[in-house]
Amino acid sequence: MDQPIGVIDSGVGGLTVASELMRQLPNEQLIYLGDTLRCPYGPRSEQEVITYTWQMVRFLMEKNIKMLVVACNTATAFALENLQNELPIPVIGVIEPGARAAIKTTQNLHIGVIGTEGTIKSEAYPKALKDINSKIHVNAHPCPRFVPMVEQGILSGEAAMEVVSETLVPMKKQNHIDTLILGCTHYPLIRETIQEVMGDRVTIISSGEETAREVSTILGYHQKLYTGNRKPAHEFYTTGKLEVFETIAGEWLDQPVSVITSVVIDY
Ligand code: DGL
Repeated sequence: MDQPIGVIDSGVGGLTVASELMRQLPNEQLIYLGDTLRCPYGPRSEQEVITYTWQMVRFLMEKNIKMLVVACNTATAFALENLQNELPIPVIGVIEPGARAAIKTTQNLHIGVIGTEGTIKSEAYPKALKDINSKIHVNAHPCPRFVPMVEQGILSGEAAMEVVSETLVPMKKQNHIDTLILGCTHYPLIRETIQEVMGDRVTIISSGEETAREVSTILGYHQKLYTGNRKPAHEFYTTGKLEVFETIAGEWLDQPVSVITSVVIDY
């Protein structure tokens, strides 16, 4: 099936999932939309996140996608069920894959989760983790300064270290945690700094790898995997300025990104 896979996020964070999709499914074409103009979604109300997410989805549905990956934890927490109920194509989010990857990793059943205010308030992670294993202990903590920092292109160095170490003080106090879920797709972009602050004893989990595996399984099950041989022409759209998006896409994705377009989606 040569239709594309749609990937959405509030900004550049979903590129961390797109890059895994490109690695695991190199023949599939991706159409990515980041709502950079209205990023961050984290502090927004549930209704706002649902409205904006649907606007992104309508844009991608017009591009005839065969599957939708909600590569944003905040949108997954608030809108996934609604999207799965309403859309005629398979839809997956990033929270269940992230929870599954963490459960596979933890040795002592103490898992930390960091994410946006919206994701943490929704309690979607504790629920997803405890649905798999009710004995899991979860400590969740919001990190509202991370997404604006990443969207500005600050991914390392002293400034990043200062913000990350200040923000993670409460998480560091949870010294029994052996696994930390990056419950926001922007956070893998500052993973090295987060690892440095948390120390080697803590294994860091991002949901991209597990999510891509699941996309492959679902498309296979529906017999919708692309079986030919091609070099797919991915398309990237942002509602905001092109510069930071281009820089981060260029650094993060293994292949050169040729088409990045700025679009308006508030319809
Ligand atoms: N990447 C989004 C997430 O995973 C970022 C949220 C935001 O825009 O605040 O939640």
